[in-house]
Amino acid sequence: MKKVFILMGAGISAESGLKTFRDANGLWENFKVEDVASIEGFEKNPKQVHEFYNMLRPQMDKALPNAAHIAIADFEKRADISLYLVTQNVDLLHEKAGSKNVRHMHGRIDETVCLKCGHVIKTPEKSAFDDVCDKCGAKGYLKPNIVFFGEMPMFMDEIENELKSCDVFVAVGTSGVVYPAAGFVQEAKYYGAETYLFNLEYIENNYYFDHQILGKASETLPAFLQKL
Ligand code: APR
Repeated sequence: MKKVFILMGAGISAESGLKTFRDANGLWENFKVEDVASIEGFEKNPKQVHEFYNMLRPQMDKALPNAAHIAIADFEKRADISLYLVTQNVDLLHEKAGSKNVRHMHGRIDETVCLKCGHVIKTPEKSAFDDVCDKCGAKGYLKPNIVFFGEMPMFMDEIENELKSCDVFVAVGTSGVVYPAAGFVQEAKYYGAETYLFNLEYIENNYYFDHQILGKASETLPAFLQKL
């Protein structure tokens, strides 16, 4: 059974119409990261942060999976493969394509978390800071269940174990500038995995990717997964 670790970035959602973060006119071109994606920004102005994700939610709800998402959902079904899929994205395009096990290491757009009791609330529509937690009743403790800069990503213990034992490591549509995700390839390579990057742009001086395949993931990834 071949163990494959796949790390997703915003680039895979780009062809489904969702903005990436660091491309020209990316999401961070219009907003200051420190205002809407950092724990300090949340503490300073929680209402603005909720408004930001309330703005993103409908766009993400409307987006449809592309050929890369579908190829990964098909790949997950193969009997000869053990797939560990991690995404940095908060959209649910992998789930819409049929993937069953998706680890959202930076959280999910359809959830809100209570900072008082840790309860996670499904949030299909709008979230608000002053909403009441339906478990502990606290008011003014709700935060989008998104991992902000300054917070620990999710699933890190599991991810560390999987990086130590995977045979193939594939990163898709990520600029490799945000840690700890950007360091996963180094760990996988250290433990003997063959490493691939599928991206639009070449990442200079990156000694950890054995292969960098340039192009749109919807065109390059399906054929690669079929041959793997
Ligand atoms: N196919 C493949 N790659 C693509 C495509 C595409 N169709 N379109 C864009 N890309 C590439 C871009 O070249 C870029 O290198 O996807 C990458 C997207 O990089 P970023 O915008 O930096 O997104 P990402 O790497 O996922 O950011 C990581 O940073 O802001 C935080 O929490 C946020 O999860 C995000 C994290």
